[in-house]
Amino acid sequence: MYDGRVVVVDHPMVQHKLSILRDARTSSMQFRELVRELAMFEAYEATRDLPLEDAVVQTPLATAWCKTISGKKLAIVPILRAGLGMVDGVLQLIPAARVGHLGMYRDESTHKPVPYYAKLPEDIASRAVLVVDPMLATGGSAISAVRYLREQGVSGTLKVMVIVAAPQGIEALLAADDDLVIYTCSVDDGLNDDAYIVPGLGDAGDRIFGTK
Ligand code: PRP
Ligand code: URA
Repeated sequence: MYDGRVVVVDHPMVQHKLSILRDARTSSMQFRELVRELAMFEAYEATRDLPLEDAVVQTPLATAWCKTISGKKLAIVPILRAGLGMVDGVLQLIPAARVGHLGMYRDESTHKPVPYYAKLPEDIASRAVLVVDPMLATGGSAISAVRYLREQGVSGTLKVMVIVAAPQGIEALLAADDDLVIYTCSVDDGLNDDAYIVPGLGDAGDRIFGTK
């Protein structure tokens, strides 16, 4: 399904943490921590195909023929606000990555994204990019982010890391860009009349920042 362009991270630890994340009783403090941890696990999967080059290391005993990561440098691009909650988890795995920010919110009646901020590393066009946002609902926000990144010259495979995705968002996002892979912890049932993911986990931004 989805021609290998969607990776569901189904590790037991991930699925266990996702269950707690979904629970309406989970506090903002715990929610934030879980989003950070899930982002780190997902980043592990999303970096599985990074190219390696040979390296020679002198251990205390002998010469070791090793591998180190090569290829393009990485940039993490969170979609504000909720994507911010995933940044530290990814940075734990890739501390040298640069971070760009794309701000947008969904209009409550049209459900379309309204962009309000963009700040990317100057050399974004030469970097491999991981877009992070916990929720992929209609796909509008992620599509807007991907289009903007392509306009800024980002080339090659774009990776979009979410925590919960709706089938509608997955299909729309895959159709919007030919060279993109989605990482998610779950593909949920669908969307409700307010374009919220069902069963989902509610409003990710509000739960991360305690604004409701
Ligand atoms: C949420 C979420 C995504 C978007 C997903 O953000 O974090 O960015 O909605 O919906 P879509 O796939 O239908 O575009 P929201 O607009 O609520 O803003 P916030 O992160 O500032 O709360
Ligand atoms: N944004 C969220 O935070 N949650 C959803 O279910 C849909 C959009």
